[in-house]
Amino acid sequence: MEIEVASKDECGGDDMEKGVVGLSGGDERGMYLVWEDLRVVVPNFGNGHTKRLINGLTGFAEPGRIMAIMGPSGSGKSTLLHSLAGRLSGNVIMTGNVLLNGKKRSLHYGVAAYVTQEDILLGSLTVRETITYSAHLRLPTKNMSKEKINGIIEGTLTEMGLQDCADHLIGNWHLRGISGGEKKRLSIALEILTRPHLLFLDEPTSGLDSASAFFVTQILRNIAHDGRTVISSIHQPSSEVFALFDDLFLISGGETVYFGEAKMAVEFFAEVGYPCPSRRSPSDHFLRCINSDFDNVTASLIESHRIPETEKSSSLMMNLATAEIRSMLVKKYKCSKHAARARARVQEISTIEGLVMETKTGSQATWCKQLSTLTKRSFINMSRDVGYYWLRIITYIVVSISVGSIFFNVGTSYSAILARASCGGFISGFMIFMSIGGFPSFIEEMKIFYKERLNGHYGVGAYVISNFISSFPFLIAMSLSTATIIYHMVKFRPGFSHFAYTCLDLVSSIAVIESCMMVVASLVPNFLMGLITGAGIIGVMMMTAGFFRFLPDLPKPFWRYPMSYINYMAWALQGEYKNDMIGLEFDPLQPGDPKLKGEVIINTVLGISLDHSKWWDLTVVIVILIVYRLLFFTILKFKERASPVFRTIYTKRTLHHLSKRPSFRKTPHFPSQRHQIMHSLSSQEGLNSPIH
Ligand SMILES: Nc1ncnc2c1ncn2[C@@H]1O[C@H](COP(=O)(O)OP(=O)(O)O)[C@@H](O)[C@H]1O
Ligand SMILES: [Mg+2]
Repeated sequence: MEIEVASKDECGGDDMEKGVVGLSGGDERGMYLVWEDLRVVVPNFGNGHTKRLINGLTGFAEPGRIMAIMGPSGSGKSTLLHSLAGRLSGNVIMTGNVLLNGKKRSLHYGVAAYVTQEDILLGSLTVRETITYSAHLRLPTKNMSKEKINGIIEGTLTEMGLQDCADHLIGNWHLRGISGGEKKRLSIALEILTRPHLLFLDEPTSGLDSASAFFVTQILRNIAHDGRTVISSIHQPSSEVFALFDDLFLISGGETVYFGEAKMAVEFFAEVGYPCPSRRSPSDHFLRCINSDFDNVTASLIESHRIPETEKSSSLMMNLATAEIRSMLVKKYKCSKHAARARARVQEISTIEGLVMETKTGSQATWCKQLSTLTKRSFINMSRDVGYYWLRIITYIVVSISVGSIFFNVGTSYSAILARASCGGFISGFMIFMSIGGFPSFIEEMKIFYKERLNGHYGVGAYVISNFISSFPFLIAMSLSTATIIYHMVKFRPGFSHFAYTCLDLVSSIAVIESCMMVVASLVPNFLMGLITGAGIIGVMMMTAGFFRFLPDLPKPFWRYPMSYINYMAWALQGEYKNDMIGLEFDPLQPGDPKLKGEVIINTVLGISLDHSKWWDLTVVIVILIVYRLLFFTILKFKERASPVFRTIYTKRTLHHLSKRPSFRKTPHFPSQRHQIMHSLSSQEGLNSPIH
């Protein structure tokens, strides 16, 4: 898969230094990552040019070394990390090769660990709890003693400087928790807990003070020097932090400005005519050379007379805009010995077969341990998050008391027939509607799931089951409180078995609708869109439940068959009516007429068939519950399995479409900005550099 034919070597090639470095130095269990001619584009099908996010990047990462990906904001650092880790968003296409130990393979589900720029954490847990659960989810608890695991947990807390806030809550919308820097360090701690062989980090030091940034980078360097491969994007590091990196990948506008040993970068910049002034930190100098925003900074400084006009250089070189310097650097890098060495090394690593034996990836804990840990964690989260269940339980109680007082002691008069039917309809309709209140919390939990799943913390099955088990006590609390209050206030059909049936019917109904909402959350992972979709689905269910329109009156195609049959609410309501009315006798409309039997009313007035018992209705509700849980599992699994296939098809089709466009083959044009550049520091030192 090529976006465009590889461009002719602009450098001739004679002066290339074919640096061949042996592979013997690396850890044989390590991960060698190679990327060749990596391109990422946003296809613009409508109008305008296709946007190139990264353009022909080649490089490699080796075990025992830590690499910094540096570049101005928007230069493509995150895009490069996403491409390497196979996490690009759906609207872009990637071409080129990413090889792990010489083979193309997915880096998902535990092969590589990835610390994202955004911290996704469960806000209701403390720092120590978060690390502890994570450790129990992934460490081989069978082979490790409790003391050893606790040692790892405490060691990680100390290593990341989190001891002081270890028992503080992380915080969410209603709880002020730990600081942004502490969250960042916690996110890193969670991934380094298991010492992954391949670790990606997206700006791990952003938001940290310079001392914390130094310590965090030093820890990452130690991990790398322990035989691990660490690749981290970094934004404006201090000189101390920069000195900790072994390799540097400097990019601008998606193109390589420099790739090689970090300490050789200063030499490269000096060789190509942009030496670093001794009073400026090298990383600062590199970014100044390639960040065109500095042109605007200089222009505004000149405007505000902070830089005197007399200091302007007469030299032509001095007047170059950063965009031009950047293009020159990109060109010079292509012809440099560093590029040649990189190409040779890439060739060498990618052709060696059987380089590494397969290391065990993902979670090392048993499935049962994963299930019990996830269940515990989820239960604690649910019990601490007021919005998850507590608020709903309170609302259920208040609404139940209201319903109970409105239908108080309903009796068996003629008018009670409709009152009982309405009360049942209200419970199965509006009360169930409230389960949509938990949707925001589902979405938060799904975000954590996706992050942890991609990093291979646990399996889909363990998550789906644990989610159900942990929520069950709350579902029981909700149903019991509602059923007890309403049943006794309204005085439905007396008898314990009838009361027990009402409770069972309600608990299974709430469990079904919760599962249905989880399915919606997995398909529409956006708070507002999911909420609207969920409300729409519940609305349709209410309409076909048999209360607003009796079942025999529903239009046969679609609404009666199959909608009312796959709608759990219809079954639950039928069961509830049977439970309440069968065996009761109601007063007739005209006094003196014979009493009306409940069975007859159910059959003739409510249009409910008496062919099967209420227990069959309950069984169908439970079957629908199982189907929803299986559907939830299948959707999560399908997304994992099918998305790479869809991605490949999409990439092929898009490339085919784009290859017809002549404009696509053109090299992108970088606009030149003509602001005059000052050169205070460099000129003071007598250096011939256009960068001041
Ligand atoms: N999925 C995407 N669709 C469209 N544009 C994107 C996408 N991802 C990134 N970009 C664009 O690519 C450029 C580089 O983004 P990014 O890699 O996030 O930069 P950095 O991490 O260096 O700040 C930005 O201009 C951004 O808007
Ligand atoms: Mg970024």
